[in-house]
Amino acid sequence: MDQLKMLREHLGQNDEIILNALLMRNSIVEEIMAYKEANGLQILQPEQDEKRENWLKASLEGKRHGKEVQNVFKSIVENSKRIQARHLFNYNIVLIGFMGAGKTTISDYLSTCFAMDVVEMDQVISEREGMSISDIFEVYGEEHFRNAETNLLKEMQTKHNVVISCGGGTPMRECNVVEMKKNGRVVLLTAKPETILERVKDSHDRPLIENNKNVEFIEELMLKRREKYMAAADIIIETDNKTELEICEELVNSLLKFDADNK
Ligand code: S3P
Repeated sequence: MDQLKMLREHLGQNDEIILNALLMRNSIVEEIMAYKEANGLQILQPEQDEKRENWLKASLEGKRHGKEVQNVFKSIVENSKRIQARHLFNYNIVLIGFMGAGKTTISDYLSTCFAMDVVEMDQVISEREGMSISDIFEVYGEEHFRNAETNLLKEMQTKHNVVISCGGGTPMRECNVVEMKKNGRVVLLTAKPETILERVKDSHDRPLIENNKNVEFIEELMLKRREKYMAAADIIIETDNKTELEICEELVNSLLKFDADNK
């Protein structure tokens, strides 16, 4: 019994060490973030993730409970990312733009960098309706789909610090833009029609261009939407010929600048 008491005390001491180390780690994360911002350094540094992963793997090689420790580290790192995200932007990031502008890709990248949840509007609506976007258009009509978009955006008012990836037509309704801006910053991703065509040519879940996959049609629809896109956007990021990292770095810096200018 005495030994059990001693072991428990030992465990308690260990927990205290872990707890203090975690608190210290979080402070260091904040300091790094502040240092990067103060010195105009690149905010996203995915190579650091890789370095840490390699270090962890090497350090745990042949150790008992390696998998368990790895799991704990995964959640420690995710929490640090969330701390960074909350420090940088205390609101939802709403991505808008034409089909194929990169909304889904950039949402995923942001989610990896900052452990933010992503709401992929098309996917949520499709799951709820139990059919593909093309089928929703065919069975219920476009208006039904557009109403589902508006309702989903209203629901998003309860969320903070998530990435919302809109459908290409979402900002066409002014009431949708009002919802987006309530607790979010609207980021417009753009790309040339040629780039868009290249990105969408092999997919078949975009009923509006399914039978019109050519530069002329894309250009024309883009022009029709341009004014509404521009009016909705808080910041605009061109995506042609840029890597995901470059786009996201630009996005984060533009948001920081937007927030500083609109304080
Ligand atoms: C649409 C874009 C699609 C999807 C639907 C309608 C549009 O989303 O919502 O096919 O009107 O531009 P993506 O922009 O994600 O392809």
